[in-house]
Amino acid sequence: MSRVLVCYGSSEGHTAMIARRIGDILADIGHDPLVISTKHPPPDIDLRRYDGVMVAASVHRGRHQQHTVSFVRRHVDRFNAIPSAFVSVSLTAAVDRHDSQHTADEYVQTFLTETGWEPTRTHIVGGALKYRQYGRLLGFIMRRLASSVGLSTDTSRDHEYTDWTALEAFTREFAGFIEQEPTSPSSG
Ligand SMILES: Cc1cc2nc3c(=O)[nH]c(=O)nc-3n(C[C@H](O)[C@H](O)[C@H](O)COP(=O)(O)O)c2cc1C
Repeated sequence: MSRVLVCYGSSEGHTAMIARRIGDILADIGHDPLVISTKHPPPDIDLRRYDGVMVAASVHRGRHQQHTVSFVRRHVDRFNAIPSAFVSVSLTAAVDRHDSQHTADEYVQTFLTETGWEPTRTHIVGGALKYRQYGRLLGFIMRRLASSVGLSTDTSRDHEYTDWTALEAFTREFAGFIEQEPTSPSSG
């Protein structure tokens, strides 16, 4: 059994749900996950207790949450010393076009450059359109953006573009990788 820290940055709640799902999958296969928000991380968190770490964060206006960037920077030595995975959530990732996939990859690269983190695995995941949460102006902007890339413009409900099967496969593969790695209790 490995102890895995699952950290997330989420503005409208979808990535929080993704992080909880990752935690559930890890627990199902016998690991011991702790899911935390990078906005309010436990002050006494000791990264040396964990054999692996997964970070999930969503993109807003081209960037992942600043508090997630700061959290990863703070712990980057430890993150680079143990098996680690980054899950980037964006609407761009949901668009099946070459230029969109390229942009989604660029979001990841920017995050990694900003933090100095070199995760063992990365995964891009389609996010959600939460029309019911947006105010009028943001709803209007998001609807136009969605229309331009072929996503739903039906503002009467929310829309989810997350491939949960792929996320589960990614999480399971990464969990298997942690098991194979010798633990390094004190580095970083
Ligand atoms: C104000 C706003 C700005 C966004 N900007 C981007 C963006 O620049 N690129 C992108 O791919 N998705 C963008 N999105 C889509 C979010 O990444 C997507 O809704 C995601 O599911 C949000 O996850 P969260 O609920 O965990 O914050 C934006 C969403 C909002 C509401």
